[in-house]
Amino acid sequence: MANKIVVGTQWGDEGKGKITDMLAETADVVVRYGGGNNAGHTVIVGDERFELHLIPSGILYREKINIIGNGVVVDPTAIVEEMEGLSARGISLEQLFISETAHVVMPYHRLVDLLEEERKGEAKIGTTGKGIGPAYTDKIARQGIRMIDLIDPDGFYHKLQDALSYQNLILEKIYQAEPLKAEELIESLQPDINKLKPHIVNTSLLLEQAEREGKKIFFEGAQGTLLDIDYGTYPYVTSSNPTAGGVCTGAGIGPTLIDDVIGVAKAYLTRVGEGPFPTELTDQTGNLLRENGHEYGVTTGRPRRCGWFDLPILKHARRVNGLTELALTKLDVLTGLKEIKLCVAYHYHGKTLEEFPNSLEILSGCQPVYQSLPGWTEDLSAIREYDQLPENAKKYVERLEELLDIPVKTIGIGPGRKEAIRK
Ligand code: IMP
Repeated sequence: MANKIVVGTQWGDEGKGKITDMLAETADVVVRYGGGNNAGHTVIVGDERFELHLIPSGILYREKINIIGNGVVVDPTAIVEEMEGLSARGISLEQLFISETAHVVMPYHRLVDLLEEERKGEAKIGTTGKGIGPAYTDKIARQGIRMIDLIDPDGFYHKLQDALSYQNLILEKIYQAEPLKAEELIESLQPDINKLKPHIVNTSLLLEQAEREGKKIFFEGAQGTLLDIDYGTYPYVTSSNPTAGGVCTGAGIGPTLIDDVIGVAKAYLTRVGEGPFPTELTDQTGNLLRENGHEYGVTTGRPRRCGWFDLPILKHARRVNGLTELALTKLDVLTGLKEIKLCVAYHYHGKTLEEFPNSLEILSGCQPVYQSLPGWTEDLSAIREYDQLPENAKKYVERLEELLDIPVKTIGIGPGRKEAIRK
């Protein structure tokens, strides 16, 4: 199969960067289709550690074409910083293309994101503070600024003035903050805009051309299914569609171009930010998973909440993404646990729920129903063949396959590019 989507099945941070990086070896084009620099992908190549936020993981291979699709919101300063960081480490950016219709995260979006979280107080979402929600809000409200506007100086000035006539009202009247001036914003953004100019193109056309030339295309999801604005734990979600459906609108292609949807799932579960989490472990086991799995946000450094694998979540992800296979990451983090639990359903007010509920109120009252499996103690890091895994590790993987009815084809057993097993 040629064209694949790599999508997160949980609350993000499933290790999609590593899986895309691994599979990108066989791809020609890698495309981001949603989200912004709220995402953080860690890729470890040899002794080097790369933390990517907006730039697709394919950038680490010189010959790949890397596309930031129109569904992504791009912070010009953040992306230039990322580009320069990569460039300084010898990574070529020649093959990086940004959609001209991608929306721009403006400095006022970051400001409003932070001010709104502060205003919400206890009821805050726990956003990454990168201005993502406000940027998508303006896109939908038809008052956003797009990459194509940045490269037309007169047009940009007028659009920005229009935008500020509204944004300044919000800043001053709602948040009692200082208003912003178009001239000052442009002056501070201009050096970044100049650096981005050569990369801004019609990426939908590029993808059509790549497809015609028989190139293999990888669509790299950011965040995860439960952070999807439609299918996630609303309102504790991000403001885009990280699920597979977001690929078509976020990259400018049709569904007939997609062959496979790979769901990436961590062997346990993590979440950053607020909101219910039925299998959350607030005890020693939770701490152990956090420390062994280095579960601290790549973007914000926040400690992640940790818990057991949750099948109702995966069944929900299977359905809304049309998953064709699973990549199970961080299996090695479970090494040393005597017992491993799998949540197979929920108890809610005397009833058993097999499916993930859409109501947050119901989810908050759900108690996990667990199946228990024996753990293993053997170190997994040197294993490259599925058959060499400890029996109990294989049992865990196979129980997941059986309960989900999806093949697990990739298993992550360490952070490095090569620390994985193809099954
Ligand atoms: P926002 O995307 O910054 O608006 O944040 C909304 C919610 O999504 C918060 O709970 C964030 O912690 C979460 N979130 C956004 N991006 C990621 C990600 O890449 N990984 C995990 N959580 C994320």
